[in-house]
Amino acid sequence: MKIAILPGDGIGPEIMAQAVKVLNVLGERFELESADVGGAGYAAHGHPLPPATLALAKAADAVLFGAVGDYQYDSLERALRPEQAILGLRRELGLFANLRPAILYPELAGASTLKPEVVSGLDILIIRELTGDIYFGKPRGVRECPDGPFKGEREGFDTMRYAETEIRRIAHVAFQAAQKRGQRVTSVDKANVLETGQFWRDIVTDVHKEYAGVALEHMYVDNAAMQLVRAPKKFDVMVTGNMFGDILSDCAAMLTGSIGMLPSASLDANNKGLYEPSHGSAPDIAGKGIANPLATILSAAMMLRFSLNKAEQADRIETAVKKVLAQGVRTGDIYEQGTHKVSTEEMGNAVVRALG
Ligand code: IPM
Ligand code: MG
Repeated sequence: MKIAILPGDGIGPEIMAQAVKVLNVLGERFELESADVGGAGYAAHGHPLPPATLALAKAADAVLFGAVGDYQYDSLERALRPEQAILGLRRELGLFANLRPAILYPELAGASTLKPEVVSGLDILIIRELTGDIYFGKPRGVRECPDGPFKGEREGFDTMRYAETEIRRIAHVAFQAAQKRGQRVTSVDKANVLETGQFWRDIVTDVHKEYAGVALEHMYVDNAAMQLVRAPKKFDVMVTGNMFGDILSDCAAMLTGSIGMLPSASLDANNKGLYEPSHGSAPDIAGKGIANPLATILSAAMMLRFSLNKAEQADRIETAVKKVLAQGVRTGDIYEQGTHKVSTEEMGNAVVRALG
């Protein structure tokens, strides 16, 4: 089985090195092949998603992705910016289903900014549609405003849109995920204002007819943002579009207080996928050896479970991570008094040791 390793920028290479170390001690024969992506792709090959990197990602059975973005690339034109790498991979590989779990590990209950009773035991799964919506909708651009009070001025515009098939397939992913968890789906939209939102709601309601055992509720996105902070444990599976999912998943991740712990999966129709930590490239701490590699290590576990059919190995990694947390081993982001602060590399080593 071939795994494309795309470390990217900022802390990407440091955290990826730890995940690779973990993959290499599992006793499986994986073929790991690395390539430049993001700012690193631009620096080495003049493009954030170099053709060879895309070809590798397409040929591989799964992609393990670090993070992209760094200050020095902020002023590049949009088409060359590091973010285009991840957007291009999502589009080119058809990775429409983004699974973002937000789990509060009991040992880290103190890390949340919310009261422990509000978040303890939190276990929600955000399913974000990833290849449609205003992210990819056309037309988009800057033009001369055609009418209205600002006629003749320049205006920026984007297009929010969803085809029926796009909504149906992500709704199926959500209902099927709920069947394996708490049997509840909250579909988030803005049906009170947007045509796209009402259409989303109608289609999700229709797909729900095939899932009698799963409860469905609809929620407006502004209310969903409020409920996530007010009573997050009410949620089981939340399904939403690309734009709202981007925002709500950051909010949900922060409920746990430890975005450095959260993995994610982006899957196509055949469960081929790209796996990446939910956090970004954190250029401010890059190269210091203090980043938390656990989100990337846990992303590797998700990869084993969803794309490589190695659920047992995924369990082994997840158990090892819990063991390390129970031992009090902590990177700086999740450090509390009385625990043992370690570097990125020491955290990776601790997981390797816990794997036995
Ligand atoms: C994410 C990120 C990306 C997004 C950026 C880096 C393009 O915020 O994965 O949530 O907006 O989807
Ligand atoms: Mg985001």
